[in-house]
Amino acid sequence: MANNKALGTGGRKSDKDFKIRVKTAKGRKVASTKWLERQLNDPYVARARAEGYRSRAAFKIKEMNEKQKFFKRGSRVVDLGAAPGGWSQVAAAAVGSTDANPLVVGIDYLDMDPIPGVILFKKDFTEDDAPALLIEALGGHKVDLVMSDMAWPTTGHRATDHLRIVHLIEIAADFAIQVLAPGGAFVAKVFQGGTEHELLHMLKRHFATTFHVKPPSSRKDSAEAYLVAKGFKARPDDDEAGDSEA
Ligand SMILES: C[S@@+](CC[C@H](N)C(=O)[O-])C[C@H]1O[C@@H](n2cnc3c(N)ncnc32)[C@H](O)[C@@H]1O
Repeated sequence: MANNKALGTGGRKSDKDFKIRVKTAKGRKVASTKWLERQLNDPYVARARAEGYRSRAAFKIKEMNEKQKFFKRGSRVVDLGAAPGGWSQVAAAAVGSTDANPLVVGIDYLDMDPIPGVILFKKDFTEDDAPALLIEALGGHKVDLVMSDMAWPTTGHRATDHLRIVHLIEIAADFAIQVLAPGGAFVAKVFQGGTEHELLHMLKRHFATTFHVKPPSSRKDSAEAYLVAKGFKARPDDDEAGDSEA
């Protein structure tokens, strides 16, 4: 009883009422302490660990897929900015990719541990030969989904950060337009003010629908959102007979 009184709730406190506080340690910056505290209290971090995902980001693509139905059995998927691998894990399971018949290919300039059913490249996607490597890895076939969670580390200089992000989104979109099969989709991380008018205009010409979403697992205090473009329109010069086997 004394315990109940001390809690002031008339009952046991639920787990979610307990927040882990991290003390600032000597040598640890306030920002790192805040990050650590946020990680320790983040239910998605705990869920990712429990469900075997390498990142909480896995839930962003899962949540978006619930509504947008990006993944179909047998779809081919390219994952840009794949490390540590959460999105690739979700994609491989959803499309039924295996080592014998890989349907998912990912790229990141960071190291990644292997993921069953996923071909991974350690490379900067902005390098000239990166697009060809990805497509070769999928046997030269057209792709059903290009997904990009790429983001540069921020420099703190707003104009520079903005330009770098816009550049990443643009090259991801250009790549998608080159490699998507008719009906394919493109999803890319953007930041507020990161989707330029011109890019949106270009995507609208190539896709049936283009819109922004913010999945519930994307932190409310982050300017992050995702640009979704669906229903890729066949280019007039596409050899549809050649693609139909892909
Ligand atoms: C938010 S993380 C991706 C998380 C991933 N979706 C997951 O589920 O684990 C962004 C990644 O983009 C990568 N990245 C940023 N710019 C890149 C580039 N130019 N080429 C390749 N990877 C890049 C970063 O190295 C980082 O690993």
